[in-house]
Amino acid sequence: MKVSRDILSLTPYRPGKPISEAKRELGLNTVYKLASNESPLGPSPKVISALHNNLEDLGRYPDAAAYEMVEAYSQFVGVPQSHVAFGNGSNELIDLLIRIYCEPGESILTSDCAFVAYRISAQAARVQTKITPLTSDGRFDLHAMAEKLREDSSIRLVFLANPNNPTGTYVGQETLEQFLKICAGYEVLVVLDEAYVEFVRAKDYVNGFELRKIYPHVVVLRTMSKVYGIAALRVGFAVAQPEVIDLINRVRSPFNVNSLAQIATVEALKDQIHVRRVLDLTWRGLDQWQDALTKMGLPFLPSQGNFILLDTKRDADLVFNSMIREGVITRPVKNYGLMSQLRISIGLDHENRAAIEALQKAVQSLPLWSAT
Ligand SMILES: Cc1ncc(COP(=O)(O)O)c(C=O)c1O
Repeated sequence: MKVSRDILSLTPYRPGKPISEAKRELGLNTVYKLASNESPLGPSPKVISALHNNLEDLGRYPDAAAYEMVEAYSQFVGVPQSHVAFGNGSNELIDLLIRIYCEPGESILTSDCAFVAYRISAQAARVQTKITPLTSDGRFDLHAMAEKLREDSSIRLVFLANPNNPTGTYVGQETLEQFLKICAGYEVLVVLDEAYVEFVRAKDYVNGFELRKIYPHVVVLRTMSKVYGIAALRVGFAVAQPEVIDLINRVRSPFNVNSLAQIATVEALKDQIHVRRVLDLTWRGLDQWQDALTKMGLPFLPSQGNFILLDTKRDADLVFNSMIREGVITRPVKNYGLMSQLRISIGLDHENRAAIEALQKAVQSLPLWSAT
C-alpha cells in the first residue's frame, strides 16, 4: 500500500516513561515520575468522589455537546458559551485547528523549541512548519516571527506556547501586543497555547483572555491536565470567536470528551482551594530547584511553568539513565535538539529532594558533554 512520505517520516510523540515500566525494568520499588509536567497532587478529592458517584451511567454515550461542562467553563472564564470549544486534551484542539485552517502544503509558524505537538500535528496534516530561532534568553523571538510572516504568504496559523514547554519561558505583554498588531495585517490566526498559565508569576505576563478582548484573531488554548490534575481524563478548551468555535465543532468527533471527564472538569473548576495548593507546592518546588541548580553551577532557564529546563553539561541520556537508577524519571529533550538538557517537572517536596540528590550524583560521576 502506498503511504504518504509525510506520514512515514513522522517521529511519534514520545511521552515520559511510565512509573510501572521503570519499576519493571529496573526492579525498583519506589519511582518518582517528574517527566510529564503532571500535578503531583493529582485531582481534587471532590473530583474523585464525583467520579465514584457517577460510575453507573457508563453504558450511555456522553453528552455530545458537553452542555454542563461548557456552561461551567464559560462561567468560570467569563465568556459566552458560543466562544468555547472542548477537545480530548488541548492536543486534539491543536490537531483540529491545523486541519481546519491549513491546506496541505500551507504552513504554520512557530519557534524553535516550541511544544513539539504543533510540528507533529502539522506534518500529519501535510502542513509545513516554519520556525524562527529562540532569542539568546530562550524566548520566542516575535520580531523574527513577524519578519517570517511578512516573507511567507503560506502561513495560516501562528502557535505561541506562553509559557512554552520545554523551555518554561514566556513572552511579556508589550512584545506580545506588538506582535498581535502586526498579525492583524495578515490572514492568520494566532493560537496562544496557555497550558501552564496558572503557574505564571511574571508581572509583565498577559493572558489570552485579556488579549482576545482587543485582538479577535487570537485563539486561546487551555487544559485541565496541568494545575487541575486530570491529565488522564483528557480535557482541553479553545476560547475564540464563535466562527472558530463553530468550525471546531463541525470537525471534532461527536463524543471526544467522555462523561466522566465532563463531570470531573465541572468539579475541578469548583475547587480553587485545591488549585491554590498545587500552585503553592509548585512555586516552592521551583524555588527549591533554582537554588539547588545555582549552587551546583548548572545553567537553567527561569521557568513560568511547573517544570524546569536545565543544562546538565553532560550527555542528557547518560544523566537520565543515572537518575532513573536512583528512582527518578526525568525527560530528555534531544528531540528538540537539546543534547545536554533535561526537563524536570516539579514534584512533591521529597520528590524534588530525591531528584536533586540523584542529579548531583549523576553530574559528579559523568564526564562533561562534548559534541564530537
Ligand atoms: C504547551 C503545551 N500545550 C499543550 C499540551 C497538551 O496538553 P493536553 O493535551 O493534556 O491538554 C501540553 C502538554 O504537555 C503542553 O506542554
